[in-house]
Amino acid sequence: MIKLEKVSKRYGQIDALKEVSLEISERDFVLLSGPSGAGKTTLMRTILAEIQPDSGDIYISDWNITRLQSSSIPYLRRNIGVVFQDFKLLPQRSALGNVALALEIRGISRFEVHTRAREALKSVGLMERMNTKAGQLSGGEQQRVAIARAVVGGPSILLADEPTGNLDPDLALGILDLLARIVRLGTTVIIATHDPLVVQNAACNRAIFMDQGEVVEDKQLKGPRRVQAAPTNLQELLGDKEEDPEEPPGEGTGRGMSSIA
Ligand SMILES: Nc1ncnc2c1ncn2[C@@H]1O[C@H](COP(=O)(O)OP(=O)(O)OP(=O)(O)O)[C@@H](O)[C@H]1O
Ligand SMILES: [Mg+2]
Repeated sequence: MIKLEKVSKRYGQIDALKEVSLEISERDFVLLSGPSGAGKTTLMRTILAEIQPDSGDIYISDWNITRLQSSSIPYLRRNIGVVFQDFKLLPQRSALGNVALALEIRGISRFEVHTRAREALKSVGLMERMNTKAGQLSGGEQQRVAIARAVVGGPSILLADEPTGNLDPDLALGILDLLARIVRLGTTVIIATHDPLVVQNAACNRAIFMDQGEVVEDKQLKGPRRVQAAPTNLQELLGDKEEDPEEPPGEGTGRGMSSIA
């Protein structure tokens, strides 16, 4: 699904990425950790084709994105939802307007855009704030809008860079649970973080540790199981949802999406 072959990126004397080779499978839930400056954000930005590596190749579904024409980049990004540390919301637009924007440019009917954007906001517990301008929301609320926006288009990959950085622990656990549900929908999710709460609680099946631009550890996690069955539709992800019957009691965070509210 995502394959990096000896990807390198230097900034002056700094190796932000140094011959990074990785293969990430469909529906992997990847924890990407490592100290500040390790190269986590740079890795994500190369997958998004925001940064062109100095050398190496990146394939997404067998598509070499290091050789993309700039006119193809929007099509790549339609398949990749992003949640970054700094939200990247439009402050003058409402919460609903920010989520809807991701769909408006796709030629979907206004009614459907509105319905799906509302559902996405509901799933992150922000129905009551949907008409509030993003710039007037708290950091935690803005992050939830950003997550709703990232998933509303049903991306095949979700990149979350420090997604819980501005949330208190309870909300952070709720966000991790939401991300686990997104994996169940069939999306490959990568969380970059150095937050110990995320490292300890994310139900990831794979942990990749970076340091000074290199992957220094890459392991399958035993505890959280590989997701097998994906829900069949977006509604199942975004609508009101009961606890997953497959999830044994006591496993995961035990928090449903409703607790994000
Ligand atoms: N645009 C840039 N110009 C110069 N140096 C950069 C740039 N972007 C990243 N770097 C450097 O590349 C290295 C990797 O940065 P990156 O942001 O990928 O780290 P990170 O692992 O995401 O760190 P953090 O956990 O603090 O977010 C750092 O040393 C950083 O200073
Ligand atoms: Mg970073």
